[in-house]
Amino acid sequence: MSVTKTTHRIDLNGARSDVLHVGAPNVGDRAYFNRLVDQIFQRRWFTNDGCVVKELEEKLRSFLGVKHCIVVCNATVGLQLAFHALELTGEVILPSFTFVATPHAACWEGLTPVFADVKRDNHTICPDSVRSLITEQTSAIVGVHVWGNPCDTDAIESIARDHGLAVIYDAAHAFACGDQRRMIGNFGDCEVFSFHATKFFNTFEGGAIATNNDDLAARLTLMKNFGFAGMDHVIHLGTNAKMPEICAAMGLSMFPILEEIREKNRYNHQLYRAHLEGVKGLRLLTYDHLHQTNWQYVVIEIDEAEFGISRDSLVDRLHAQNVRARRYFYPGCHRMEPYGSMERNRKLDLPNTETLCRRVICLPTGTAIDEVDIDRICQIIRGY
Ligand SMILES: Cc1ncc(COP(=O)(O)O)c(C=O)c1O
Repeated sequence: MSVTKTTHRIDLNGARSDVLHVGAPNVGDRAYFNRLVDQIFQRRWFTNDGCVVKELEEKLRSFLGVKHCIVVCNATVGLQLAFHALELTGEVILPSFTFVATPHAACWEGLTPVFADVKRDNHTICPDSVRSLITEQTSAIVGVHVWGNPCDTDAIESIARDHGLAVIYDAAHAFACGDQRRMIGNFGDCEVFSFHATKFFNTFEGGAIATNNDDLAARLTLMKNFGFAGMDHVIHLGTNAKMPEICAAMGLSMFPILEEIREKNRYNHQLYRAHLEGVKGLRLLTYDHLHQTNWQYVVIEIDEAEFGISRDSLVDRLHAQNVRARRYFYPGCHRMEPYGSMERNRKLDLPNTETLCRRVICLPTGTAIDEVDIDRICQIIRGY
């Protein structure tokens, strides 16, 4: 296949490492960030709904085309707030093939995570599996737009309507992604983004909850700031989920360079595809060309029988050459504590999840690597 060359002028400020990591941070417009930081120090307003946070929320709303976007300290707490604000009870159905923050947030809120299987093609939650797990105790479905792939939102939301369930999406991976119709941020009751340093769009640590529901937005806004409706006026249970001004400044500084980062990721993905084409027993996950994606994840699946060595041996081989490829989401949330020892999870049958937990590797991409690095990584994979 041919690879379209891009200009990918990315300012790394000289930062260069011999070790290649998955999730090496993307850096925004440093000069703009520095100006914003100077202003924060001049104002001496470091947190509590300052003007940088407000500007970031406004920018996010308009970028996502959503009515409300509430920035928070991270996505895990964002999920907890969402579950709490929606007054969920009993069981919530979510995939096991996700980062452990998804079930942890539910469990932290006193809910029981019920693990569904995922689809083999794009790794998102399987609607048939969800349907089979609904009980009297179910209060919500939590889909995860894993790798930025939109879940089957029509099917999930139709199941939810039939059973009167809430729908929350963990959109930690999916900033600037969407399907043919809408950007992620506009689905379900609400969607929760992560702006952790490893993500496409980062605020060092951070996250945001997007929703088109006015009442839910009002509740979330109260809850993220201890329930304060005004000075000395607490009207709701709350916590401290605020994002500091300096983190919001990082977020604002990502916008001018966002499309460049997306293009660099797309270019890297194309390079990997060209280099790995024809490797037996290796599948590179592609993105649906009808969807908008951030290309932030280069995901391969290794079929040990055809590839010749196991996924774990390949990871060891990469690590030995300073390529910090990662097994995802190994060993699967239903095998991690406190979930693994729960009676209901001991005999869980999640065939696709099991296969993926055995096969998936994420490879380094982003603005911190170049063509030479990708060539070297692919040579290691090919066994040269
Ligand atoms: C799918 C998923 N959900 C939730 C999270 C938690 O995000 P945060 O680190 O912002 O709390 C992550 C973080 O990596 C994630 O990958």
